[in-house]
Amino acid sequence: MPKNKNVLVTGGAGYIGSHTCKILKSNNFNPVSYDNLSSGKKKFVKWGPLVIGELGDKNKIIKTIKKYKIEAIIHLAAKSIVEDSELNKNSYFINNLHGTITLLEAMRECKIKKIIFSSTAAVYGESTTFKIKESHKLSPINIYGLTKLMCENFIKTMKQIDHLDYIILRYFNASGSDYVSNIGELHDPETHLIPKLSIAFCLKTNFYIYGNNYKTQDGTCIRDFIHVLDIAEAHVISLKHILKNNIAETYNLGTGEGYSIKKIINIFEEITKTKIKIEYAKERINDPRKLVADPKKFNLQFNWKARKSSLHKIIYSELAWRKKQLKIK
Ligand SMILES: NC(=O)c1ccc[n+]([C@@H]2O[C@H](COP(=O)([O-])OP(=O)(O)OC[C@H]3O[C@@H](n4cnc5c(N)ncnc54)[C@H](O)[C@@H]3O)[C@@H](O)[C@H]2O)c1
Repeated sequence: MPKNKNVLVTGGAGYIGSHTCKILKSNNFNPVSYDNLSSGKKKFVKWGPLVIGELGDKNKIIKTIKKYKIEAIIHLAAKSIVEDSELNKNSYFINNLHGTITLLEAMRECKIKKIIFSSTAAVYGESTTFKIKESHKLSPINIYGLTKLMCENFIKTMKQIDHLDYIILRYFNASGSDYVSNIGELHDPETHLIPKLSIAFCLKTNFYIYGNNYKTQDGTCIRDFIHVLDIAEAHVISLKHILKNNIAETYNLGTGEGYSIKKIINIFEEITKTKIKIEYAKERINDPRKLVADPKKFNLQFNWKARKSSLHKIIYSELAWRKKQLKIK
């Protein structure tokens, strides 16, 4: 029987990383999580070993690659809070950009030539089209998006000078949970819409809408939500492909459906049969008005669709996880 391949998952103790490790394991890969636990959780690492380490620690990455005979890297580790990136610019350049360059150097020294990189819709900035294709202008309006774009460019340069194979996945809004495995979105502070809504519902606290004067139908921002388990599955598909092929491609991961914040609150209220207490606050710094993916490129190439990503499935799974987490019946 062929041996399961070992894959290094940076950020494997985080939200998307832990779900990805679960789906990797069920597809006969051995995920090795590499994480500094700055926002990740030890208890989320259930499908393989955890190495506690920094992206900036090249020697530790090299040791880990050698110890576990790693064959490919899935690189998720990053700081990713838009507003925080505006307030603490340097830490984003150091963590995300310098961290990624160090990881790539370690890969080069170990002759690992396959990487799947977590990028984001934030690399596009304000969209000029209804749905964003990968060929859309890249013009991030916040530091978080800028650091991710710089990482993308560095990875592309490594393709030219060192024949690195890469798949860049630009996710739109990850959401939902695998509540059966007791993993989900757990950030402090929580800044994402759907977990914040479910926290407001569970704890009966107010929910803040940041800005209701955007140029959209109801004045609130529009986003594209994709279930975290669909993102995890897309990583496994990408990994299987990159292990067998020379590839240098960038794909959106989204559903192509855009929902305004108010619309999501309505759906959430319908599902929970509860009115959420809404308050309005001023717009967050450099938060794009509308981000909706054109997901066709990935879907057509891999004959795949984000099947778990209906808003109902996302909200149900988020609520189930949150209630478990907060010990609420
Ligand atoms: N959540 C989303 O909606 C979304 C959307 C687009 C892109 N992304 C990207 O997906 C990736 C994962 O996001 P997430 O939501 O799971 O975030 P997360 O904060 O839950 O996970 C990130 C993980 O990386 C680890 N980490 C951060 N800096 C590190 C460092 N220097 N060294 C080692 N480990 C480090 C953290 O401890 C954490 O476990 C990020 O790269 C993020 O930019 C997320």
